[in-house]
Parts: sequence; structure tokens; C-alpha cells
Amino acid sequence: MSRRAVGAPLSRVDGRLKVTGRATYAAEHDIKGVVYAAIVDSGVGRGRITGLDARAALGQSGVLKVISHLNAPKLAYRPNAGSNNPEGGERLHVFQDDRVRFFGQPVAVVVATTLEAAQHAAHLVEVRYAAEKPSTGLAGHRTNKPVTYARGDAEQALRSADVRMEMTYRTARNHHNAMEPHATIARWNGHRLTVWDKTQWVNGTQEELAAVFGMPKESVRVISPFVGGAFGSGLRAWPHVTIAALAARETGRPVKLVLARRQQYFGTGYRPAYEYKVRLGGDRRGRLLAMTHDIRAETSTHEDYQEGVLTTGQMLYSMPNVSQTYERVPLDVNTPLYMRGPGHSTTSYIVESAMDELAHELGLDPIELRRRNEPDDDPATGRPFSTRRLRECYTVGAREFGWDRRDPKPRSTRDGDWLIGMGMAAGVYDTQRGAAQARARLDARGSALVEAASSDMGPGTYTSMTQVAADALGLSVSAVTFRLGDSIMPPTPPHGGSMTMASVGSAVQDACDKLRRQAVELAVADERSPLHGVDAGDVVAGDGRLHVKGDSARGETYQQLLARNNRTHLETLGSFTPGESRFSMYAYNATFAEVAVDHRLGLVRIRRMLGVYDAGRIISPKLADSQAIGGMVGGIGAALLEHTVTDPRDGRIVNANLADYLVPVNADVPSLRAIYLDGDDREADPIGVKGLGEVVYTGVAPAIANAVFHATGRRVRELPITADALL
Ligand code: MOS
Repeated sequence: MSRRAVGAPLSRVDGRLKVTGRATYAAEHDIKGVVYAAIVDSGVGRGRITGLDARAALGQSGVLKVISHLNAPKLAYRPNAGSNNPEGGERLHVFQDDRVRFFGQPVAVVVATTLEAAQHAAHLVEVRYAAEKPSTGLAGHRTNKPVTYARGDAEQALRSADVRMEMTYRTARNHHNAMEPHATIARWNGHRLTVWDKTQWVNGTQEELAAVFGMPKESVRVISPFVGGAFGSGLRAWPHVTIAALAARETGRPVKLVLARRQQYFGTGYRPAYEYKVRLGGDRRGRLLAMTHDIRAETSTHEDYQEGVLTTGQMLYSMPNVSQTYERVPLDVNTPLYMRGPGHSTTSYIVESAMDELAHELGLDPIELRRRNEPDDDPATGRPFSTRRLRECYTVGAREFGWDRRDPKPRSTRDGDWLIGMGMAAGVYDTQRGAAQARARLDARGSALVEAASSDMGPGTYTSMTQVAADALGLSVSAVTFRLGDSIMPPTPPHGGSMTMASVGSAVQDACDKLRRQAVELAVADERSPLHGVDAGDVVAGDGRLHVKGDSARGETYQQLLARNNRTHLETLGSFTPGESRFSMYAYNATFAEVAVDHRLGLVRIRRMLGVYDAGRIISPKLADSQAIGGMVGGIGAALLEHTVTDPRDGRIVNANLADYLVPVNADVPSLRAIYLDGDDREADPIGVKGLGEVVYTGVAPAIANAVFHATGRRVRELPITADALL
């Protein structure tokens, strides 16, 4: 039998390409005759453009064109429900009017034969504005129609509760800050458009461009074989994608447009800032009775961005009374977008901080408090959980982290000038799945090529899909090639929401199962095959051969089978279509952190972290570790460092660079450990996975915040937790 690929700790099949620089990211595709674009962005946060003088720019050698609202053609901007655009608004229409809706909004683009000429000329475009004062803060504005949820009577329950608490938490705006900048190369061929783009969804970008330019989507091809991190920022096509395509059409040349690092902060999305008031009530034994959530978040004036902030508060703990109000405040800002663990990570921080505060109030161990409120069925829907093993996560985590060594009294442990604290939190992310297809092809050499549109922003999709395909076909990993990142390949859902493994993986499994069965059918019907006449159900594949189950000598290789039948290849199309389920499906974590806080300086250092995950089956353990450790690093950023700061006078983001916007560096990252409960959730999908990329992030920030409280006795209700708050 061949060694199973699924579950083996493989290195990335594309690792060599990446470390040798041969993986082609969006800006690196070598397109003949390409010219360069540079965006001129607004220097005011709200108002109108009263004048735009491009003469100096056009006078520079190499400059081909300056496009603005003064000369841009009218674009179709068809509504398109299929894309990832937020509901209830109009997406930003590029160069279609003189309005400035946020600081950094593109107001013109310069196209030139060199990048240097384009960038220099962009500075020479003179724009005059009638500026108005922008609204950029969450306080005191009208809101979009709130989304609400209620069960029971939370107000009544709070009045009668033994213990009542009320807290307001705040979380900062965060930007994705992937290493690879957003970039697009666009080329027209008659009425057909080809785009090389950094995207998490080639099909979504294809639909968006078709809608913007009023074309059938079949006339648009989007190619994106490698993505250098995205964390959600590539889940929709931002205005620069349209601008690249428009510039290419207007100049008749292929155009490359790479956003400068500073422009990433203005021109793409971000995790919105939140203001979150929570009230909770319980009895003396720590049974929760009620929780209320009053949530305010940023959105833009032109789109009503919403994310899943409500479910965690509805289903993480058993309680009869819940009331929620989720308001979005329309501000003069760019539209937010999903960022790793969207919704759940914010709510996990708030709910899990509140639980820690309640545990302290009641003098109960935080894990014990959680155990006392662990539901048997989903309290929001009454449905059974497909799998929910949070109790085991607590048990394993407490044992492996040494939770029993924790003195429950805050500020009780010291190491010289450092106050030492241990904290924990639970986290959750819903198991999302979407309709996906994949094509599998077996050639006469006995090698397989498997394709699906998808993306791989870093989780290792190339590798994990190769593993699934290799096992289904009985081939070694080296005999399988997986390709992705092209809209002409079978369609897939967004490479986000932690749904790629479940969705695309199940489609790959289906395609390869069908392909294997097709080969088996061919063999058992072939008089010259050693498998002739064998029941198809008794034939298995392994080591590149088909053979009788339990008798590996009786069989033949794929090569022999195809050659004898004069077949150049066999090919199948597989699919996965998630149905309605009677189950409630989530992935879970229990995350533990130990911190040290310098009592003189307020400096917080993480000493060690442990995440324990109930995420279903783990296809690729080495890549899973990469996800989990990356998720913890991201969570350290959210807890202690990351904060997009806006100047309220003009809406300018003041730290729009990686020197001033802090992300964790190696010195911030200590010993991190991940443990996966051995699981398999067949209710979720045929390959038993529940999604991993986001559940490893939710739970991290509250574990750290709770550890900081335990170390210092100071409860900081704002992320990031910075030194000034601890002095
Ligand atoms: Mo993820 S925020 O869905 O890329």
C-alpha cells in the first residue's frame, strides 16, 4: 500500500518556487509591452474636486495619459449580487464624479512608460478641493438601521440576577498588512480583458470587472497563481483593479498598477473599529442568565459593511436571555472588509474578557465558569452541534499549559521587575462551506493534474489539495500536480471564511474518486487487464496501480491500462454542494497565554502560548501548525500592537506604513504551541474538516488580555493594550 498523504507532515509542494523567487506574484508576471500606472489620491477627507490640472504631468517624458473624472468614460457599474461587495450601498465609482468620500480616495491615475515617470508625474498633478470636515470617529453619529437579535427577556433577567456587570470595550481599526502589496496587471484584446491580480477570489474579481465595464463575465479572465498573504484584503476587487483595467483600455497598452505601501491603508479594506457595551447577569454559582450586546462599528458613507459579530454571543454559552444591537456608523472613510476571523475575533475578545471579569467577581476559576455554561445544543438555533469538543480543549489545554500552577489571585506572581500572569479564553469560528468544482485528469504517464480556480494566500492550498488527490487516486504526492488561481478553471467560493479546505477539498476528492472509478471501470471491462471481470468494488488504488483488494499482485499500473486502451488521458469534473444541514457547525479553540508585564514600564511581553483546537480532521499537520502559529502571531498583534490611527481633522491615516503601524516581529513571538484534537466531522463535509485559518486567531487576543489582568490586576478594556494604559 502507498503511504497515505493526508495526515502526513509534508512540506509545501510550492515551497521551492517560493524560496527561489520563481513563484510569480501579481506584479511579477512578465507581460510584453507593459506600461505603468500611479494613482493620485485625495489629500482631503471629504469634499469636492474644484480643479484638476494635469498639464505639468503630461509634459513629462514618457507620460502617456492622465485619467480623472474630467475625462474618464462613463462606466457601467452594473449591480452584482454575486460579488463580495457589502450590502445596502453603492460601491465607489472610479472617476465618475467630483466627490471626495474619504482621504486617499483615488482622484486620478497617471500612465507612463516607466514606473519612475508615472510616480513622478503623479506628484505633478495639481488637484484643488472644496474641503469639508470629515467624520471619522464612532461617537455621536447617526447609524444605519441596526441588526438586532433577542431571545428571552434580557432586561428582566438582568434585574433579577444575583450578579450584574456592565463594561464597555473598544477595539482599534486594524489593517491586513500582508507582505505582498495589492497589484494588478490588465491587458485588453479587443473586447476581452485579462487581469493578473492579487486576489482571494478570481471568480469574484472576474464578476466585478464584468459588472464595472458592462461585459459578459466570460470576456474577463483573472489569473492569480500566488498570493503573498492577504488575511481578507483580497476578498473583493478594490478600485485600483478597475483603474488598471480602465488605464489599459484608454491607452491601448497593458498596464501594471502596484499600490504603494501607504496606499494599502487607504485603497483597500480593514477591520473596522468597534465600541462594544456588554452587560451580563448570572447567579452566585456562575450560571449565566443574560447578556446584552450593544455594538457600534465603522462603515463608509457609500456602503454598509457588516460582519458576523452576533453569532458568538448567541451560541458560545448556554443562557436563556440574549439581546443584541449591531449598529454601523457611516463615516467618511473607505469601506472596511473581512480581516482574519471577522466578527468572531472581535466578539471573542469581548465575550471572553467579560467572562474573565465575571470569574474574578465570583471567585471562580475561569475554566470552571466556562464549563458551567457549556451548552449541549446550539442555544441560538436549538440544533445539535455536528461536533463541539470545547470541554476537551479545556482539559487538554489546562494539562499541557500547567494551569494548576496558576495562583488565582491577580498580581500574585513576580519575576524581578516583571509581573507574571496566565490567562485563557475560548474562541469560535463558523464552519463555512461553498459550492465548488474541480477537474482531475490522469495522463498516459500515470500522472494526475487537478485544477480548481481557488487561491492560495498562504495556508498551503497547493499542498493540501495534492494530498487529498494523491490518496484518492492511489498516487504518490510527486505524481500529482495541483493548479489554481485562474478563472477559466472550475469555479470555487472565495478563498476566505476558512472554507477552502472543506469546499475545494471536497470537490477535489469527488473529482479524483470519479477518476479512479473511471479507471477501474475501464480495467474490469478490459479482457486483457488482470482485473478483467473483478467486481469494481473490489478494486483499490495504491502506488500508482489498480489492484484487487487484499491481493496487490493482481493488478496493473495506470500507464499499462491507458496505453493498452489507446487513451491519452482520463478526465472528470468533481463538485461539492453543501446542503441544508440540521446541525450547527463551528470550529473551536481554547487558547492559553502567559505574559510578563514590567511594572515600571508597562511593557507587556508574551512568554508562551498554547492553542488547543477542535477543527475536525487535519489534512496537513505541518501546514496546520503554520496556520496556528501564524494565527497566534496575528492575535499578539491585535492584542498588543496593531492600531490604525486616523487624524480626526482631515481623515488622514497617520501611521500608514510598517514603521509606525506595529505588527509582531520575531522578538515579540515566544514559544507557541498548537494541539489539534483528533477529529473528523462528516456532517460538515465529506473530508471531515471544519476550517482552521480563522479559529486559530479568535481567542488569542482575549487570552492575552486576561493574562495581562492576571499579571497586573488592571483590566484594560481596549485593544491594543499599550504601555500607557498599564502605568
Ligand atoms: Mo478571511 S478574513 O475570510 O480571508
